[in-house]
Amino acid sequence: MEQQRNDSFAYQDLNADRSGPPEIRPEEITFEELIGTGSFGKVFKGRCRQKAVAVKLLHKQNYDSATLAAFRKEVHLMSKIYHPNICLFMGACTIPGKCVIVTELVPKGNLETLLHDEKIQLPLYLRMKMAKDAALGINWLHESNPVFVHRDVKSSNLLVDENMKVKICDFGLSALKQKHKMLKDQSSAKGTPLYMAPEVMMFKEFNESSDVYSFGIVLWEILTRKEPFSHHRELEKFREAVCSKHERPPIPADCLDSLRKLIEKCWDKEPLRRPSFKEIIATLDHIIVDAAISDINGRDFWKRSFLTEQEVPWDTFVDALCEWSKHPNRTQCDKASIEYQNIKCLKAILSDSPKAEGTGVDNIVHIEKFGKILEFFGPMNAPNEGKTLLELIREVMAQKWFHGYFETVDAATRLGGQPVGSFLIRFSSTNAGCFTISQVINEAGTIKHQRVSRIGTKYNYQNVNYNSLIDVVAKNGGGNNGDVKLDASLGVPNFKFMALFCHVPSSSDTY
Ligand SMILES: Nc1ncnc2c1ncn2[C@@H]1O[C@H](COP(=O)(O)OP(=O)(O)O)[C@@H](O)[C@H]1O
Ligand SMILES: [Mg+2]
Repeated sequence: MEQQRNDSFAYQDLNADRSGPPEIRPEEITFEELIGTGSFGKVFKGRCRQKAVAVKLLHKQNYDSATLAAFRKEVHLMSKIYHPNICLFMGACTIPGKCVIVTELVPKGNLETLLHDEKIQLPLYLRMKMAKDAALGINWLHESNPVFVHRDVKSSNLLVDENMKVKICDFGLSALKQKHKMLKDQSSAKGTPLYMAPEVMMFKEFNESSDVYSFGIVLWEILTRKEPFSHHRELEKFREAVCSKHERPPIPADCLDSLRKLIEKCWDKEPLRRPSFKEIIATLDHIIVDAAISDINGRDFWKRSFLTEQEVPWDTFVDALCEWSKHPNRTQCDKASIEYQNIKCLKAILSDSPKAEGTGVDNIVHIEKFGKILEFFGPMNAPNEGKTLLELIREVMAQKWFHGYFETVDAATRLGGQPVGSFLIRFSSTNAGCFTISQVINEAGTIKHQRVSRIGTKYNYQNVNYNSLIDVVAKNGGGNNGDVKLDASLGVPNFKFMALFCHVPSSSDTY
């Protein structure tokens, strides 16, 4: 019992009030490696009651009794907040000299580090989903009762888990932060309040809309993967630039319109003009679709059918698509018909992947996959040569030389030992919407990979535009265009899609 006492505080006193914060005894926590240092504490990977956790050890431990009471009150409030996009508060030790906060361990660390690591691939679509996660978390704080204003929204306070889901951390404790913040901000150039709303820098009222401003800067950082205001060095000049001259980071010209508008609204100098997080989330739903699908009609189709979803069951998807494109649906067409085959091909290509052994096994359609298929075969609406998207897909898939998703090394293996001229065509693994022709070009078995790119509705190969991929093969057999001749009879057959065309339909088929 004596061991649990620290000065005038007894553990059982703190835990007596069952509605209070879950109090953790100091001896229950073991500290492992340091995983982060913030303005306010050191964060360690640690262990508590057999569970790997994050432990924040507050820099300052000698609080006066009023601050300590405020700390306990805030810890109590933090322990009442549960949301998948908020780092889970698990407990705290509020004994003076041993103040720590225990939270779930979020494995990939903070978003700032991730964004600025060029080696990590983060497609815009994924980054926008991460932005939505963050917005959902902050919205939860704003809609809590009492309202929680985060006060320190920035990319280093966004944590990323093993599934790339984002959780907001470092909220609450405003009683301690208020005292600390300005000190920090004035002490070093690095401490410039990059994410701080102008009204806050001018010591005016801080409310939810100040978090919105900060989120605008975070959105810009998520978009550009650059450090905001990196040219600023001096606090006073920075403050004047942001507050008086309304300087904001430059938005790149190729930014999606919808995203540009949202960023600009968020960092509006007038707090009342900034959107609420509820509005931000609704807008991000549209932006996520815009980021995943570049085809205008494809975006429109997805938004009208499944705006807030990124994965849709195949049945729901194909019925909606058939209705949209006025194509007979699964129940309306005969199983021996070409329309039915169109649908089978669409399913096979949507579930194809570089690693797939077979196709047609995946019953979920993912928005990104659909976006990519439109880049390869689109546009979605304006029929190419009078053919619909579904017809165009089937026609290409019916060619034995078409291998869909097929990696360069697999293409080389497949072509190994084949006669000169043998070729296959696959989706380019590096360039969106492009195809790659891989061909054996000499007796030594050298394989050459050449690109077919999309220019509008055309297929461009060796600087000549063709109406279709089939035309590229048909019109390059004569050998007029450079050294690679394409003879359809030398197409190396794929093993993935051929079955779709050999199969005799039976009544048990379901697509
Ligand atoms: N639960 C956690 N899981 C993983 N890393 C964390 C966790 N909490 C904090 N960190 C790391 O520690 C850093 C500082 O933590 P934070 O809570 O923001 O403290 P501070 O108030 O000192 O800024 C974060 O940016 C992050 O890199
Ligand atoms: Mg922090």
